[in-house]
Amino acid sequence: MRHLITLDDVSPTEVETILSITHDLKTKFLAGVREPLLPGRMMALVFEKQSLRTRVSFEACMTHLGGGSLMLGDEAGFGKRESLADFASVLSEMVDVIVVRSKAHQTVVDVAAHSSCSVVNGLTDLAHPCQALADLYTIREQFGDLKGRKLAWVGDGNNVARSLAYACVRLGVEFSIATPKGYELDPAVFERLRVQDPDAKLTATHDPREAVAGASAVYTDVWASMGQEAEQAQRVKDFAGHQVDAGLMAAADKDAIFMHCLPAKRGEEVTAEVMDGPQSVVVTQAGNRMHAQKGMLVWLLGAHGDR
Ligand code: CP
Ligand code: NVA
Repeated sequence: MRHLITLDDVSPTEVETILSITHDLKTKFLAGVREPLLPGRMMALVFEKQSLRTRVSFEACMTHLGGGSLMLGDEAGFGKRESLADFASVLSEMVDVIVVRSKAHQTVVDVAAHSSCSVVNGLTDLAHPCQALADLYTIREQFGDLKGRKLAWVGDGNNVARSLAYACVRLGVEFSIATPKGYELDPAVFERLRVQDPDAKLTATHDPREAVAGASAVYTDVWASMGQEAEQAQRVKDFAGHQVDAGLMAAADKDAIFMHCLPAKRGEEVTAEVMDGPQSVVVTQAGNRMHAQKGMLVWLLGAHGDR
């Protein structure tokens, strides 16, 4: 039995397997075929934070795969009515996979520790592995290849940035991150990745132009993530100079794409011109959440056979 708590749990070969299943299932989906690889399997979603993309993409993919899903709302009493251990051990008796979006990363870790079924991280303060899988799939889909490409992150060294760093290294993509001072990605991430892959191409800077030079994909996220709303005004000041605008996009490769995990704040981390412009792939990227999670679930639940 496997969990997907962070991409540290997944080897480069396994990431390739997930993306290969994703591609197969997306190709069939676009041809009108929904392959029921998880008939009768049940997924429960437990979310402590808001979500559009993660929730709907998981529910839709489970339906397409022939399984069922159940969004547990407040009435389930997660964290309130009984201990987390009792909640997780009972819930996992009845379902095959639990997707958790929690405020604290430790909550997902604890749910996994007490579950007899697979647990998937649907975003924590530390990581967003499902997002990163969809993002790397999107880059490959856009360009037809991944190896040797560069992804530039401009903004906060946050949960999404951390998962992208892992995904990039596993797939041979250079990862360059530009943050304001005080918002850097935890240096332990690069240290660990360099141990796992001595050839990993990783750079951290405070200069967005340096990060995007030679990049095939320029990626940003909100300056204040969920739970950081009280810091919003301060962050707007601190992130000055880190907005992705047409000038910054022009400093990347000429065919570079713009990416954002969404939701976005036009006028803050990205201009409307870039967000809604020809280089933006954000809608396709969001749609790929569903396709990549199909690949991930089929792999995680061992339904991929020889693929
Ligand atoms: N990108 C993402 O995870 O979106 P949601 O917060 O809407 O799920
Ligand atoms: N960094 C953002 C991502 C939302 C999908 C957050 O955690 O709110």
